[in-house]
Amino acid sequence: MLGRINHVAIAVPDLSQATATYRDVLGARVSQPQALPEHGVTVVFVELDNSKVELLEPLGAESPIKAFLEKNPSGGMHHICYEVTDILAARDQLKQAGLRILGDGSPKTGAHNKPVLFLHPKDMNGTLVELEQV
Ligand code: CO
Repeated sequence: MLGRINHVAIAVPDLSQATATYRDVLGARVSQPQALPEHGVTVVFVELDNSKVELLEPLGAESPIKAFLEKNPSGGMHHICYEVTDILAARDQLKQAGLRILGDGSPKTGAHNKPVLFLHPKDMNGTLVELEQV
């Protein structure tokens, strides 16, 4: 079911500062900020040869990463995203195996305009897992 790692996501308290660190200090290519109101975050992607790092900053009062940043004020690893070829088939297979899908279980459109789902971290060894259909 699992394809490549699409990205690893890091929640950050200050996106412009985090962007400056990756771009100006580490010399990485960083995309323009993208507001994703449906997900309650603003994101940039650090583009690496073999994968991407997604930097997430809260957007709006109801941001799902707000509590995470309260617990981790300087930021922290937030989720890992794996690619799948058929997200609905993957979801059905995972549900059958007893894994919980966050939200209403239907894919949302992610930062790459592709369908994404999140799996409950308690079912995934304490790691929030995103699946993205590619
Ligand atoms: Co992500």
